[in-house]
Amino acid sequence: MAEFHVSVLAEQLSAAVAPAINAHPEAAVVDATCGAGGHTAAILGRGRPARVILIDRDPAALAHARTRLAGSACPLEFRHARFSELGKILDELQIPQISALIADVGVSSHQLDAGERGFSFRADAPLDMRMDPTRGQTVAELLATIEVGELAELLRRFGEEAEARRIAAAIVAARPETTGALASVVENAMSGRARRALGKRIHPATKTFQALRIFVNAELDELEALLEVGPQRLCVGGRMAVISFHSLEDRMIKRRFAALSRAPQVPRELPLTAAQLPKASYAVPAGFPRKGVQADEAERARNPRSRSARLRVIERVMP
Ligand SMILES: C[S@@+](CC[C@H](N)C(=O)[O-])C[C@H]1O[C@@H](n2cnc3c(N)ncnc32)[C@H](O)[C@@H]1O
Repeated sequence: MAEFHVSVLAEQLSAAVAPAINAHPEAAVVDATCGAGGHTAAILGRGRPARVILIDRDPAALAHARTRLAGSACPLEFRHARFSELGKILDELQIPQISALIADVGVSSHQLDAGERGFSFRADAPLDMRMDPTRGQTVAELLATIEVGELAELLRRFGEEAEARRIAAAIVAARPETTGALASVVENAMSGRARRALGKRIHPATKTFQALRIFVNAELDELEALLEVGPQRLCVGGRMAVISFHSLEDRMIKRRFAALSRAPQVPRELPLTAAQLPKASYAVPAGFPRKGVQADEAERARNPRSRSARLRVIERVMP
């Protein structure tokens, strides 16, 4: 059986947050994307936080991680929830501040590989794509009623699909209900020029599948909520580490971290010395690359999924 999920950038991520965890052993750590529990396992290999809160919107991931991490020396708390519920969860657990927050956003290998979840065109299955199969609208339900204009906008925005309009028109005409049917509608709708530009290695429906998945899971809204609340909950010296897999997400993380690292503006005419100027409350940790970290050649060869991954880290340096 294929592995549930092979963690990406696990060494780099655990090394990046270890100083914060070891400086505050009394504080909790949050793993906002539990998945197979691989990143938490890597963190526990480097230190012993007071406890770890593991969040995932996919019950299958939580069940897997619970078994994998059983017997851990550190107390673990599993929560079936979304990023946007992070503040509420921490309030319920009476945890005002944490030493580290990690997130590895996107889908797990299990979600992609389990054909019946409807994420992939590699297996024919009902079009579902919900990371949380217990709630929300499936892609098939969405495609049953959506209008061409709205669908084209969605494909452009979340898939950066250049032929969004003609693909949307073909999808609405066919209203496919399975992954296989959607993949062939998109393939047939796409111009020969666009298909040739993709080459043999990229399926013509890749961007359409990505856009629909991002939309039904509200992935960008979820990430925005995490980027808003996460940094506020770090203690001074606490670190937040986020791995993303495409430019839409990485852009959001980069901009939010850059905004947090900017000192508050003061009117130029105020008579302040350099020492009196307000400082930013967050900064990229000393020694960590400002552009983030990507997988090295060995990891890329071992795990092709790591090729598009980028890890960014921020530290709270002031209250
Ligand atoms: C790439 S996997 C994480 C793998 C994990 N870091 C590991 O090393 O095993 C991403 C996980 O995040 C979950 N996820 C994605 N978006 C989420 C959200 N908004 N709220 C909660 N979980 C989310 C997915 O269900 C999936 O299980």
